[in-house]
This record gives sequence, structure tokens and C-alpha cells, in this order.
Amino acid sequence: MKALILSGGKGTRLRPLTYTGAKQLVPVANKPILWYGIEALVSAGITDIGIIISPETGTEIEKKTGDGSYFGANITYIRQDSPDGLAHAVKIAQPFLGDSPFVMYLGDNLIADDLEQYLQEFVEKKLDALILLRKVSNPSAFGVATVNEKGEVLALVEKPKNPQSNLALVGIYFFSSLIHNAIANLKPSARGELEITDAIQSLLEDKKLVSARQLKNWWLDTGKKDDLLEANRIILDTDLESENLGIIEENSQIIGRVKIGKNTQIINSTIRGPVIIGENCFLENCFIGPYSSIADNVKLSETDLEHSVILESAEVVGIHQRIVDSVIGQRAKIHPALKRPKAVSFMIGDDSQIELI
Ligand code: G1P
Repeated sequence: MKALILSGGKGTRLRPLTYTGAKQLVPVANKPILWYGIEALVSAGITDIGIIISPETGTEIEKKTGDGSYFGANITYIRQDSPDGLAHAVKIAQPFLGDSPFVMYLGDNLIADDLEQYLQEFVEKKLDALILLRKVSNPSAFGVATVNEKGEVLALVEKPKNPQSNLALVGIYFFSSLIHNAIANLKPSARGELEITDAIQSLLEDKKLVSARQLKNWWLDTGKKDDLLEANRIILDTDLESENLGIIEENSQIIGRVKIGKNTQIINSTIRGPVIIGENCFLENCFIGPYSSIADNVKLSETDLEHSVILESAEVVGIHQRIVDSVIGQRAKIHPALKRPKAVSFMIGDDSQIELI
């Protein structure tokens, strides 16, 4: 069994962060989204992993993620020169995949369920495709499945205008090598891409063994700011364990589950968990509220924030309104407010500089 993680694409829905970086490297609880997928595959026993990368962000992904030894895996990088669709990615990965069955995993998807149970079913029943489904309120934004009372898949449509059900295709699929024949006969969709949804639909039409399971727990497609914040909230809620490797000055208060990295200094501040703070950060006169993730080398002073994600080397100084539901990019600087608006909500890209006057 092999795995193919798709980590190309332009990440348009997470701009401006993705002008300068790969969306799959945006951190959730201070860990790149992509790494959650790699870890999930490794813990299901799949260590031979191909990662599809784009020319724009591939080098960054390769440099950060490495050859897989950190995860106990063996990673092969495969470059997709243009974003021509999920099925196109499988097509160019064929030399890596050979005749092996494989899990295809979209690098910006996060799920709570263990993969093992689904993998076992796929193998035991000798399926040609096993897809995972989850009820959503906006099915038109996804691939949509129609299933009968027995749970058998009847049809799949990519981003339908008039969806026949509210069951979305989760970005994790199990395939036998038959998928390659289905892909070979595909025509590009209206959006000009080779759609994996169409390939699975053609397996259905050819009466191949296609099965579906509904996820038991949450699923997040972290392609947008609010999804990213929600992923951050859930991971901090479920996975975070307290640890303090930093320097906490006496008049600071640490409440609840808080993880603080090496060389981080906290002066006259209150941190109310769940909160993760990276290494080499400096926090002075701050209140950091629940569901915040602060990456390495961040400087925060006179700042009050909660339910926010601050990326590496960002600086926030003297914002006296509470910062909520915000994502602040790498090296972004926010400087003192002279007037005081009642509320602010940010989506600020890497290298931005914002002055409130
Ligand atoms: C892709 C698939 C879609 C699936 C979604 C899950 O959409 O085409 O069927 O429901 O991933 O994340 P995209 O993210 O390319 O719009």
C-alpha cells in the first residue's frame, strides 16, 4: 500500500498568506497542516509516500518536510507543472504508484478519525475505490455523493449547482490500480481540470467495487481562514498538553493547558489556555486568550488576543482592542493604534505592515 499526498495548487482561498507560502505549510497548532496527513498515514502503517508539489511552492515543502525520516516514512516528491486537477496528479504519479493500491490524501484536509479502520475495510473487501463522506451545509462547494438506503453509492458529481444530497466527498480516497484506466479516459471538466470525482463516477458506471463510509468525527478542509481557525481550535482542544520550556516572570499567570517553547520570555502577562506559544518569543503586558497559536520568534507587547493564529516572526505592539478570529502572516508588523475602533478582525498576509492611526 502506498500513499499520494496532493500538496500542489495555488491556495487562492487562503490569499494573501499563500502569495508567499504553500497553503499546506500554514500551521495548525504550530504544525504544518501537511504534517498531520503524513502522521495519519504513518500511523496507519503506510510509509511509502509520494507528495505532489507545484513549481511555485514545491521547494519550500521539500525543504521543510524532508525525506520522511522525521516521520518514519520514505517520501518521494513528484512535481506537477500546472494545476490540472486531482486526477491529473494521479496520472503523473503513476510511475511512483505502479500497480500498487494507494490512499490519496489532499494535503489541506484534516480528519479526526483513524485511517486504519477504512484501510482495513478497503483491503478486506478488495474494493476498487473507498470514498469518505461527511454531511455539509454547503454541498455545492464540494464533490457530492448520492447514496441509497443501504449506503451504496449511486452517483458522484463535482461541485453541482443543484446538489442531490448534502454528503460531500472528503479529500481522502482509497484506490486500486483500476483508477488509472478510469483516469486515462477522462476529459477535462468545465473548470478545465481532470476531476477525480469523474474518475470514480466512471468506475461506478463500469460496475466496479466502489464503496463509501461516512466519517464519524469532524473533517476540516483548511483552505479558508475560518476553517483554519476552526482546525486550530479543535486541535488545541483535543491534542494540546501543557509544557513550559520558557521563562515566565513572577507577575505572569498561566492558566489551563498552555505549551511554551524554549527561550520564550513572558513578562507581566496572562495566558489562558488552550494556547501554544513557540520558541524565542517575547510577550510583555499581554493577555492571550483561548485557542491561540503563536509561532516561533513572535513579539507581542500590550496586546490582547484570542482565537487567533500568529505566524513566525510577526510583531504586534500596542493594540488595545482585543484581536479576535485573526490570522497574522509571517513577519507582519502591527503597530500602535491612536484611535480606538470598537472591534477589529484581520487576515493579514506575510510581510504586511499595518498602522492604525
Ligand atoms: C476537492 C475535490 C472535491 C472534494 C474536496 C475536499 O475540491 O475536487 O470533490 O470534495 O476537494 O476537500 P477542491 O479543493 O479542489 O475545490
